[in-house]
Amino acid sequence: MPVIPIKPILDTADKYHYGQGAFNVNSVSQIKAAIEIHEILRSPAIIQGAELANGFMGGRVDFKNSTIDDIRRGARNIGEAVWKYAEHAKIPVVLHLDHGTNLEVVKACIDGGYTSVMIDGSSKSFEENMEITREVVKYAHARGVSVEGELGVLAGVEDHVFSSQSTYTNPLDALEFIKKTGVDSLAISYGTMHGPNKGKNVKLRREILIAIKEILRLEGLQCSMVSHGSSTIPRYLVEDLKVLGSNMPDAEGISVHEIQKAIRSGIAKINVDTDIRMAVTRNMREYFNLHEDKQKSFSIGGVYKDLKNHPDVVDPRQVFGSIMDSVMTGTMSDSDVADLNKEVEKGVMEILAQLITSFGSAGKMNLVECKSLENMKKIYI
Ligand code: G3H
Ligand code: 13P
Ligand code: ZN
Repeated sequence: MPVIPIKPILDTADKYHYGQGAFNVNSVSQIKAAIEIHEILRSPAIIQGAELANGFMGGRVDFKNSTIDDIRRGARNIGEAVWKYAEHAKIPVVLHLDHGTNLEVVKACIDGGYTSVMIDGSSKSFEENMEITREVVKYAHARGVSVEGELGVLAGVEDHVFSSQSTYTNPLDALEFIKKTGVDSLAISYGTMHGPNKGKNVKLRREILIAIKEILRLEGLQCSMVSHGSSTIPRYLVEDLKVLGSNMPDAEGISVHEIQKAIRSGIAKINVDTDIRMAVTRNMREYFNLHEDKQKSFSIGGVYKDLKNHPDVVDPRQVFGSIMDSVMTGTMSDSDVADLNKEVEKGVMEILAQLITSFGSAGKMNLVECKSLENMKKIYI
């Protein structure tokens, strides 16, 4: 199937009250595995590349210094892989830009084959956020591409939920933002946080979500709610990594139960990155422990060296530097590279199988009324 915009998938999740995971990728084998496991579970799929993931897959090993040219190259590599694997799959697949920060990046990603983009203006003032989001909506919708905005700052303070100092999303601001920008979906701040340290026993402020959904219902507006920073940080993975010499102090996630309650209160899209990073890195560390002879491999010995020199690293990008060909294009130069990438794939599948099932999108592939970019373009105009 061709890659489609996100709106039909999120509208369906809203209509049938289930959650749709949106999973971050940083290599071609992660893309392959993510599409495969969604297809096995007969779930629609949202594959997402963050701005820096695009830079990395454009060949920028020190991805934090990515330039727009790196991002443009990476978007093409990601786009090519997603369109290739989606073509042979019978599920609807979306390619979504995660946390885009400006119009240039948005354009580079759409040129590379993205069918959905996020513009994250949450660190700007309300007015500036609306302005840049409106600009992106105008550009993207004219091409049939869906847009996610963000309002509120993640890692909100526990008290003063509806006060003026709160970093949580204010429901009335959300209404104004949605009305004035025309976004298809909105990332809200309601107690989640990026990364592995989300705090113990996090309780999500579902009243924020419920208020926004109720206001939207009264106004007759459709906009899907997005939960960022939603990794569950499985305890067994923290323990596995510890046994392998990798420590993640105070690692705590959002419980699956909390996310399921949020889905029942109106969350449609759930973003997960850190859980995948952990499983992939655990698998690579375990692989070199089990196959000592591979530690000196001509082609993958460099990955082992990086893992060894950085025992606490869980972001695979920090150790993929010596196998960039396979990362960027999926080319396996020899059987060692192929074997290591199999471990990467298994890590992705391990996490996604659990979350797709828990969020409730398994088996839902036929509920989505697929629309092409061309169809959506006509609907948006
Ligand atoms: O929030 C999304 C991702 O975890 C972003 O990670 O900016 O390091 O690519 P990154
Ligand atoms: P995690 O760090 O909780 O995986 O969040 C990922 C995310 O929000 C990507 O946009
Ligand atoms: Zn995020």
